[in-house]
Amino acid sequence: MLKGKKILLGVTGGIAAYKAAFLVRLFVKEEAEVKVVMTNSAKEFITPLTLSVLSKNPVQYDFSVPGSGEWNNHVELGMWADVMLIAPATADTMAKMAHGICDNLLLAVYLSAKCPVYVAPAMDRDMLKHPSTQQNMKQLVSFGNKIISPSYGELASGLIGEGRMEEPETIFETIQKHFSAKLPLSKKKILVTAGPTYEKIDAVRFIGNHSSGKMGFAIAEELASQGADVILVTGPSSLTIQNNSILRRNVESADEMYRECMKHFDEVDGLVMSAAVADYKPEKTHSGKIKKHDQELQVKLVQTKDILSELGKKKKKNQFLVGFALETDNEVANAKEKIKSKNLDLVVLNSLKDTGAGFEKDTNKITIIDRNFISTEYSLKSKMEVAKDIVAAMVSRMKK
Ligand code: CTP
Repeated sequence: MLKGKKILLGVTGGIAAYKAAFLVRLFVKEEAEVKVVMTNSAKEFITPLTLSVLSKNPVQYDFSVPGSGEWNNHVELGMWADVMLIAPATADTMAKMAHGICDNLLLAVYLSAKCPVYVAPAMDRDMLKHPSTQQNMKQLVSFGNKIISPSYGELASGLIGEGRMEEPETIFETIQKHFSAKLPLSKKKILVTAGPTYEKIDAVRFIGNHSSGKMGFAIAEELASQGADVILVTGPSSLTIQNNSILRRNVESADEMYRECMKHFDEVDGLVMSAAVADYKPEKTHSGKIKKHDQELQVKLVQTKDILSELGKKKKKNQFLVGFALETDNEVANAKEKIKSKNLDLVVLNSLKDTGAGFEKDTNKITIIDRNFISTEYSLKSKMEVAKDIVAAMVSRMKK
């Protein structure tokens, strides 16, 4: 979600300045571009070198580059940022911001910034309570700045009270939310299933399939990067999630996947059922290992629940259901039939006839058909790009 976002971090001189290092790391880990501007007194608490190494950018703190006669362009820095965050913000800096005082580079950048500005105050309890600080904070809010309220706890002075800078993780989430609020799926919660299911024969054997989970994981990531709250219910898969906001639930069998989906279905706005759910499971599972003997081994299979059909029956008007159809013959006709029989809004058709499409591959070739039977064929693409096409098709059809 923060990938490529330009974050300008202003650091002022308080003990919480050391937490700026954690903040920079959190942003950089999410592939945001981070530049740091600090006051001279902040340098007493954390070195520019530390923040420069972590942000992978030079840190600015003077109007000119020392010794070079070169000007640090505060207007450019202010224009560069998608968001400016001042953390920690001391009482002194907030007072200056409230009154347009501009006696250091950070304040000049603040005055030049065209982007939204977040301020995370940090100071001692009584400084925060002082009417002048309270007045200044109100003033800052009236200018459109957003205050990330300090939290309660033990302060550097030993006093207990409000004034601690909010934890880096919470500040990070606030900035993440700032960006996700503008995304098309920011108010949506979506359930995604992925991977195969394993149906146990005995203690060591199972019936499974070759699904890797790549398609479902890519869809979950894309939905999350479009701002959705994602619950990913996955069968056994070695894949890992990149976006920390995705809630992952691991299951093994079709029955477990059914139960986990049922648990979440009422709370979601949509479902993408990309798991390759087993259609059959052994009628009974042996608790130990079945020993080899001379006769043939017969394993009776019974049908699993069709999860998508069951959820299709439960579907409410405002819920959006996406199913997959893996076909070898009469692809389009069968896919359309699945839209009707499973009460879907979209079906993503994979034809096993297409080279490069299918299980364990990094590419896929799909056709998307909606409930009005309007179909769109896509070329062979990476599964990440296919996920983007599927999510775009959802976004354009889902109720806002
Ligand atoms: N599906 C499901 N539960 C099952 C089987 C399939 O939820 N027990 C879902 C799949 O995740 C997919 C859709 O149903 O989104 C269609 O799966 P597919 O295997 O193409 O078709 P089936 O319904 O199983 O029918 P058939 O195998 O006869 O084509």
